[in-house]
Order: sequence, then C-alpha cells, then structure tokens
Amino acid sequence: MAIVSIIAAVGRHFEIGKDNDLLWHLPNDMKFFKEQTMHHPIVMGRKNYESIPEKYRPFKDRINIVVSRQLDYPAPGCFLFSDLLEAIEFAKEHHEERVFIIGGAQIYEESLRMNLVDELLITHVDAAFPEAHAFFPTIDFSEWKKSFIQKQEKDEKHSFSFEIYRYTKA
Ligand SMILES: NC(=O)c1ccc[n+]([C@@H]2O[C@H](COP(=O)([O-])OP(=O)(O)OC[C@H]3O[C@@H](n4cnc5c(N)ncnc54)[C@H](OP(=O)(O)O)[C@@H]3O)[C@@H](O)[C@H]2O)c1
Repeated sequence: MAIVSIIAAVGRHFEIGKDNDLLWHLPNDMKFFKEQTMHHPIVMGRKNYESIPEKYRPFKDRINIVVSRQLDYPAPGCFLFSDLLEAIEFAKEHHEERVFIIGGAQIYEESLRMNLVDELLITHVDAAFPEAHAFFPTIDFSEWKKSFIQKQEKDEKHSFSFEIYRYTKA
C-alpha cells in the first residue's frame, strides 16, 4: 500500500503563500522537497501548478498530476484529473511506495478532510508572514506523532531558520 504524504512549508501561523507564490526562498528546503519527491508521483492543485515557474514544470523525473475542474486545462507533460480522489488513486496505482500531495491550500485541506493522508512532512519556517493569502489547514497535531528530520539555521542563503518534522498518524 502506498504511503500518501503531504509535503508543505509553513510559517509560524501556518502561512504557505501570497499572490499565488511562496513567501520565502529557502534552497535547502527546496533540496529536501526534491530529494523526498524524486521518482514519486506528485499531486497538485491547478493554482499551485501555475505558481511553478515554467522552466521547472513539470517537475523532472516525477509523475506530475494536476487537479482542475476545467476538463480542458492545458498542463503539458502532466496528468490532469477533475477529481482529487481519482487523482490520488491513479498516483497510487502508478507507484506502490509513496505518493506526495504538494499543495496548495485547497488540495491540502481537501485531502486531509477526506482522510486520504498517512503522513505530513512539514517545514516549520521560524517567522510570521502577515501578508500571506494562503494557509495550511488547521489540524489537531495531537493526533499525529512528531519526529525530527532536520534543522537549518539562518545564513547568507536562508533569510529564515527552519525545522522539518515528519508527522505520522498517532
Ligand atoms: N508553502 C508551501 O509548501 C506551498 C506548497 C504549495 C503551494 N503553496 C502556495 O499555495 C498557494 C496556492 O494554493 P490555493 O489553495 O490557492 O490553490 P491550489 O490548492 O493549488 O489549487 C486550487 C485549484 O485546484 C482545483 N481543485 C481544487 N479542489 C479540486 C477538486 N476536488 N477536484 C478538482 N479540482 C480541484 C481547482 O482548479 P480549477 O479552478 O482550475 O478548477 C482549484 O481552483 C500559492 O500561493 C502557492 O505558492 C505553498
């Protein structure tokens, strides 16, 4: 059975984006995202897909799955689904090990609400972003067992420090 993981980076107040873009540039978090998702299917909302710079999409060496209710939405090199559950089932069929849900806010919220998620990989960015428009859904973290993965201090390449944790169903 494939493990379905959410991967997300959040600010102190669970901010994840602004104006259909990210709120930070954290190369070592991007590296973590790449290492984790490489060779696995990734499921994303149409807005998240549009937020990815054209030169990076579809993400290389991964099955890219976009969900949109626009049946003719053009997403070259990606699989398009109009139903999130069907998209995740398709991803599971194509990869027995791991499937990643890579956002944005709507897709995180719906997949958690539908109880489709086994694991969360959350980068906690140590800053607040009052300008944010998009937020990770409110969840009860006491229902999840937390384990530390890695830490990044602020440095010349990282304007904010962060810590990454894995949360599995307690
Ligand atoms: N910090 C992070 O880790 C992270 C990760 C990813 C994204 N983000 C940020 O999140 C923001 C985007 O999030 P968002 O909530 O605005 O958009 P989103 O979740 O990326 O995409 C929403 C779109 O997905 C489609 N959709 C949603 N539910 C669906 C369903 N059940 N069936 C079929 N299609 C469905 C709809 O597309 P149509 O309108 O085409 O029907 C909807 O408009 C951006 O700011 C981005 O930078 C942050």
